[in-house]
Amino acid sequence: MNIAVLGAQWGDEGKGKVVDLLTPQFAVVARYQGGHNAGHTVFVDRTKIILRLLPSGILHSHVSCAIGNGVVIDPQALFTEIDELGRFGYDVSNRLLISERAHIILPYHRELDLLSEARRGERKIGTTSRGIGPAYEDKIGRRGIRVCDLFDRAGLEQEIRENVQARNRLIKESTLDWRPLFDQMLAYGERMKPWVTDISVFLAKTSAAGRPILFEGAQGTLLDIDHGTYPFVTSSNSTIGGVCTGLGVSPKMINGVLGVVKAYATRVGEGPMPTELLGASGDRLRDSGKEFGSVTGRPRRCGWYDVVVARYAARINGLDSVALTKLDVLDGLDEVKVCTGYRFGSDVISEWPADLNVLAKCEPVYETLPGWSRPSSGVTRYEDLPREAQQYVAFLESVTAVPVSIVSTGSGRNDTIIREKSAASEWFGVGTM
Ligand code: IMP
Repeated sequence: MNIAVLGAQWGDEGKGKVVDLLTPQFAVVARYQGGHNAGHTVFVDRTKIILRLLPSGILHSHVSCAIGNGVVIDPQALFTEIDELGRFGYDVSNRLLISERAHIILPYHRELDLLSEARRGERKIGTTSRGIGPAYEDKIGRRGIRVCDLFDRAGLEQEIRENVQARNRLIKESTLDWRPLFDQMLAYGERMKPWVTDISVFLAKTSAAGRPILFEGAQGTLLDIDHGTYPFVTSSNSTIGGVCTGLGVSPKMINGVLGVVKAYATRVGEGPMPTELLGASGDRLRDSGKEFGSVTGRPRRCGWYDVVVARYAARINGLDSVALTKLDVLDGLDEVKVCTGYRFGSDVISEWPADLNVLAKCEPVYETLPGWSRPSSGVTRYEDLPREAQQYVAFLESVTAVPVSIVSTGSGRNDTIIREKSAASEWFGVGTM
């Protein structure tokens, strides 16, 4: 079975933990989009490891990890991450594969990212300032530099010269020299070379040999360039279509789709978030959930679970099943709210609107459920969850119309429930995890 694991909200759903947990069932974990704007947090024996560019399966020594053509790679960030993992005792050198077609983030992409944000002023996107958008702009503008280009000295020189000239014209008073950049890229290419391959061919062979693949998404459905809260989105397809385009695999190779959904909602950066809680209730979720960006450290905006978002994500991605994370963060609340629709004028909307002006006028319609005082934290069997917590999960399943097969009750690998007779138990076998 090849399974896609992707975010169904605004990112930070806990994909890192879920992918790390499921990885023992797979031979390969393949990342299909985004870059080091992602921050996938994994706790191993209480040690916190944040993965940005490397697939979250990398902490398991039997697994190969592939970075697809849909990913944008900052080579310096890649090497820093590899070196950091080395210090934790993880040698990735013989298990990493990088697509020759992936695009490179150059240092000037970071500058352009900052410049673009400054230019937008109050309407800024709130990007991670990693140069992600400008790198994808160059890709779509057909002037990007790909990994394979790092090995073509003459072609690379021409591309870098032209790109630097164009950038100097764009940024007033900029006198960037192409030569040191060219030398740096050649050196990066040399270090990257042993890992570079055709990922599409590799994955096709892996799958044909019956070796299972986990397709790992970054960010979340509402940050998707096409289906998210445009323009407050990232610059790639974080939804299911990104698996095919970002890895060069056929849709027929995806046998199941697992959506990772937090038990409440969070968002980092600007843009609409209908259920956002300002004030003490939002602070309570932020503090208990330690909701601070793992890449930028920014406080995340917090709010109640939004069914309109969840149903939208279920439709776009064809979710077979949900991994519900951070249920324990709701422990101790007197009551828990769930947004089941948006009031817009005299109507109640249940489909996610494209127009941000409509979204701005939407008022969430809430259903209130009883909270639970007995902790769910660390619970590993569904029937041991407080009764009200089970009711909450059952309610989300009924309104979202997707079964919950995994429940995360804490940050550790073991703080997890794999439900019996669920998609997860069918895909992986409960007893084997
Ligand atoms: P960019 O991807 O750096 O261009 O940022 C665009 C938007 O996506 C901003 O609102 C970021 O905060 C958000 N974003 C990017 N990566 C992540 C992530 O991994 N988790 C949550 N939000 C993200």
